[in-house]
Amino acid sequence: MTEAAHDSTLDFNRRALIKGTLFGVATVPLVWGSDASAAPSAVQTVKAYGTASISLTINRQQYKLDVDVRASLLDALRDTAGLTGTKKGCDHGQCGACTVLVDGKRQLSCMSFAVMNQGKQITTIEGLESAGGELHPMQQAFLDHDAFQCGYCTPGQILSGIACINEGHASTDDDIREYMSGNLCRCAAYPNIVAAVKQARDKMGRA
Ligand code: FES
Ligand code: FES
Repeated sequence: MTEAAHDSTLDFNRRALIKGTLFGVATVPLVWGSDASAAPSAVQTVKAYGTASISLTINRQQYKLDVDVRASLLDALRDTAGLTGTKKGCDHGQCGACTVLVDGKRQLSCMSFAVMNQGKQITTIEGLESAGGELHPMQQAFLDHDAFQCGYCTPGQILSGIACINEGHASTDDDIREYMSGNLCRCAAYPNIVAAVKQARDKMGRA
């Protein structure tokens, strides 16, 4: 870039800055050269920068949500849709607490942008029980086997257990341990979790 071109860019940016239009945001003059007491000529609707209006299908229900374009699916579920059953552990894809089902497959919701999930079927722990209020076989199995203590990891474990069975990865204890290994339990309820997944597998009629 030549010296002159460099100077002109600088000049443009300084002018834009002083006019308040550097980032494309128009401002309304408040005092100088205007009549501050005059009625506003038009109402301006201003949307927060970087937000998006999206539509998500969660537990067979449509949700219209305004979210930051950078919001994770986890934050959209918990903070915007109010579905706090899905838990935030590490927020870095390492603990499995935030596991949900997307189109039937397990997904770490902290690792997926909310905007990427439009048009997909999202299932959270709140969507598992039947319309008549009957628990999903996996939920019932966790109760029957005391497969939790504090319960913080439990929604993710339950969703992951369902996917594990549907993937055909629950035929042996070793398989269950291996394919559930992305879901950490700090209370170390692992033996009971394996027992619960086996009970649910048999109830669900899958290998
Ligand atoms: Fe998503 Fe830990 S909160 S993996
Ligand atoms: Fe406490 Fe798993 S039951 S972390």
